[in-house]
Amino acid sequence: MALMCGIVGYVGSGPVSARPLQVVMEGLQRLEYRGYDSAGVAVITDTGLQMAKKAGKLVNLASRLQDSPLEPGTAAIGHTRWATHGGPTDGNAHPHVHGDLAVIHNGIVENFATLKAELMEAGDEFASETDTEVVAHLLDRAYQETGDLTEAMRQVVVCLDGTFTLLAVHASQPSVVVGARHDSPLVVGLGDGENFLGSDVVAFIAHTNRAMELGQDEIVTITPTSVDVTDFAGRPAQAREYIVDWDAKAAEKGGFRSFMDKEIADEPQAVADTLLGRTDMAGSLVLDEIRIEESVLRAVTKIVVVACGTAAYAGHVAKYAIEHWCRIPVEVELAHEFRYRDPVVDERTLVVAISQSGETMDTLMAVRYAREQGSATLSIVNTHGSTIPRESDAVLYTHAGPEIAVASTKAFLAQITAAYLLGLYLAQLRGTLFPDEVAAKLVELRAMPDKVQTVLDRSDRVKQIARWMADTPTVLFLGRHVGYPVAMEGALKLKELAYIHAEGFAAGELKHGPIALIEPGQPVFVVVPSPRGRHSLHSKVVSNIQEIRARGARTLVIAEDGDEAVVPFADQVFRIPQCPTLLAPLLAVVPLQIFACELAHAKGLDVDQPRNLAKSVTVE
Ligand code: F6R
Repeated sequence: MALMCGIVGYVGSGPVSARPLQVVMEGLQRLEYRGYDSAGVAVITDTGLQMAKKAGKLVNLASRLQDSPLEPGTAAIGHTRWATHGGPTDGNAHPHVHGDLAVIHNGIVENFATLKAELMEAGDEFASETDTEVVAHLLDRAYQETGDLTEAMRQVVVCLDGTFTLLAVHASQPSVVVGARHDSPLVVGLGDGENFLGSDVVAFIAHTNRAMELGQDEIVTITPTSVDVTDFAGRPAQAREYIVDWDAKAAEKGGFRSFMDKEIADEPQAVADTLLGRTDMAGSLVLDEIRIEESVLRAVTKIVVVACGTAAYAGHVAKYAIEHWCRIPVEVELAHEFRYRDPVVDERTLVVAISQSGETMDTLMAVRYAREQGSATLSIVNTHGSTIPRESDAVLYTHAGPEIAVASTKAFLAQITAAYLLGLYLAQLRGTLFPDEVAAKLVELRAMPDKVQTVLDRSDRVKQIARWMADTPTVLFLGRHVGYPVAMEGALKLKELAYIHAEGFAAGELKHGPIALIEPGQPVFVVVPSPRGRHSLHSKVVSNIQEIRARGARTLVIAEDGDEAVVPFADQVFRIPQCPTLLAPLLAVVPLQIFACELAHAKGLDVDQPRNLAKSVTVE
């Protein structure tokens, strides 16, 4: 099976050349964050279909191609894979070839065993353990009947259950690539005398910023000069064209050691860009993308945030802000738990989905479920052209730019920023804050990018401590109020990047059990709330620091400038600028991201592509 993979397709005009393979390999390099168990390419050459594939990272495929190059061609497809069963071997890597046809696949064909049994009964033999090879066989059979790859694709997709993006090429149609999508992403890139397909625009952004969104259950046929989109029944479909507002540079490391280092450095910009252009001349918030009737938003009695992983922690921060500003109850639910527990949502519930990729299957399914229950759905998403915004009633885009490193950093800050905007917008609409209060909070928000930059400018010490701690077996994180999701995010970053056991706790919970974990030398990060705002919480967290210190913990404290109360009990203090309590996660999380990133570098790990992970989880 092939899940969460990176897919790229290319067709160019003119005689055969090295360009198709070059474009596809370069696209794969940019897409490798989506999966990196194995990779492969197929090229249509003058002598027919040629294919190369290799287990492991893309470099393995690149050196295989260097040792025995493929001939120049007219069209090519390529794939990076993130496998579940059907291990990451050369044989299970994509493309899968049958006859003169090659296919690559992202998703799961759930009925593949039945289809495979039927094909085997008819005499077909299989070389791999994958579901995708079944598709190759079916497509080849359909091609033999129809003599047309698009028609063959149409016949096959209706036989498949599950989720898929498929790209196919056939040696007899050297200037055609056909794609199909069902619950899995696929975007078209529009070139000049050449066209592209990709799992996302990163695949072809070096060549064109003109893109086209495909709808659910659509088939696309690209040639050098045409793009035809139909539904699965063959009826013409209207695909929306759009311009990608960032360029290839944004998807490159730009001199940084890793994408993650770069993306952390991008954070002030990600927050600033997400705030940009959201107010009218009078200073009121205008969120044009929120196309849900104001009357519906006024009538909302409950908000449910659905998301996974880091995005869910952004949702936890949103809960504190929205409840405080709007007086609407907010629940935060992991998207994969949400729809399986018969949740109480109805027409008066606003379901807010948060997702960087816009493709996380669990989150998408939660959105679909919510819509079925009659709830209004709004998504906070970073990736244009992705599925979740298309299936939501409204979208608030974060403008973090492409996030390539598998672990989310700048998108987290942008998600929190967008959630603040949503909260203030609802408060403005429902009158729970006066206009001057909304305006004042927007001023405070606009000051945040500079403050994030200040935290970055102070990162040397946290990096030094991270390097010293490279052998630490376990780290705990404590926080309270909005510091609690920050603590959990800090723990998640450390687990996924440095493979170190880490746990985030609500500081108030400490005495109810976790304090038993504290033994001499145990490192504990503590996110301390501002002493200026909620005094009671500040002193309570300072007490927590004392309690763990007394039991021998090494305390690594994140505290506001000027907070001297923490100093006597802290082994290390990492300072963040002063800001309103609710906005503090934008600052407090940054040292934790830097800590995890630096510690992973110190351990010699691949920071951008941690083991076992993939950037967008497009299966449940
Ligand atoms: C952690 C991380 C994941 C994602 C989660 C949701 O660093 O990146 O936990 O946050 O898989 O992904 P999106 O936001 O694309 O829905």
